[in-house]
Formats: sequence, structure tokens, C-alpha cells
Amino acid sequence: MAFDPMLQRQIMGRFATGVTVVTTRYGEQISGMTANAVMSLSLDPPLIVVSVDCKSNMHGHLTQGQCYAINVLRHDQEDLSRRFAQPGPKDFSDLKLAVAETGAPILADALAYVDCRVVEVAPAGDHDLFIGEPVAGETHDGQPLIFYSGQYAQLAPIAADS
Ligand SMILES: Cc1cc2nc3c(=O)[nH]c(=O)nc-3n(C[C@H](O)[C@H](O)[C@H](O)COP(=O)(O)O)c2cc1C
Repeated sequence: MAFDPMLQRQIMGRFATGVTVVTTRYGEQISGMTANAVMSLSLDPPLIVVSVDCKSNMHGHLTQGQCYAINVLRHDQEDLSRRFAQPGPKDFSDLKLAVAETGAPILADALAYVDCRVVEVAPAGDHDLFIGEPVAGETHDGQPLIFYSGQYAQLAPIAADS
């Protein structure tokens, strides 16, 4: 019997992650999508991966653009995560943006970014894995936004006596 997808979601939801907005540029257009299925895949050679739902608009945009930036959100950017998790065109008009190498928009207030050129797309069920070669990136000080068990959270220091 097939493994219950709801149970898979619940189990993997217990794996706390950061939250990113993955952005791309295709022609004159920019687009973005909230994503936490991102990973540093290899250091030698350097490779990053984002897993993208084949039914999302972002899938088509990444296929056209062949580049992406992963923008790691700060603890106070839950509103951006919610905005970029809505299907359809995304509003960038009030955001401070920068451009690194590939042309994908960088969210200037993010905690970190990595700008990638797509080097391979590997099918994975109802998602495709967009494997990218990083070409630019930056980190800043601050605290990350966390996603855990379907809810947003922040890091808390572990008490000294626990
Ligand atoms: C915290 C969080 C993480 C998400 N991670 C992913 C992901 O890794 N891959 C993905 O395809 N969708 C992910 N989504 C869902 C997309 O953000 C959502 O489907 C979005 O509406 C896609 O927009 P689009 O269809 O306009 O591209 C995530 C949503 C949330 C709230």
C-alpha cells in the first residue's frame, strides 16, 4: 500500500527548516515563490538544489529563466513568506531589490542569498529538482524565520540547565 502522503507531511513537518523566497528572471519578467525544500547539495563542485512543484507557475518561470536566487528570510519576514506562497503573479513593487550575476532579483533585506545558474533539472515525482551552480552570494547578521509543523517560529536559545 502506498505510504500516506498526509503522514509524510506530518513527519517531515517535524523537520524544522528556514524559509526562503526563490526568485527568478525570465526575459523582462521577475517572479518568486516561498520555498523550504532547498539544500546545499554539493561543495565540490558547488551545487544548490530547490525542489519545485511541477504545477506551480514558478516551475515554468524557472524553466524559461534558467537561473534563481535563494533569499533566506529573517525572523520578521513572515509577511513575505505568506505573500510569495500565494499562487499567481507576485508584487515586488514595495521591496528593496538588488541584482547580482544572473539577473534574478535579490531581496535586499534578506538574511542571506545565493544566486545560481541552473545546470540540471532532475525529475522527482510531482516535483522537479532545479540544480544550480552558485555564482554569487552574501550573508548578513540576524535571526532566521523558522517553519515547523506548519507554523512559523523563531529560534530560541537552549536554556543552560536543560
Ligand atoms: C513555508 C512554505 C514552504 C514552501 N516550500 C515549497 C517548496 O519548497 N517547493 C514548492 O514547489 N512549493 C513550496 N511552497 C508552496 C509555494 O510557495 C506555493 O505553491 C506558491 O503558491 C507557488 O506560487 P506559483 O504557483 O505562483 O509559482 C511552500 C510554501 C510555504 C508556505
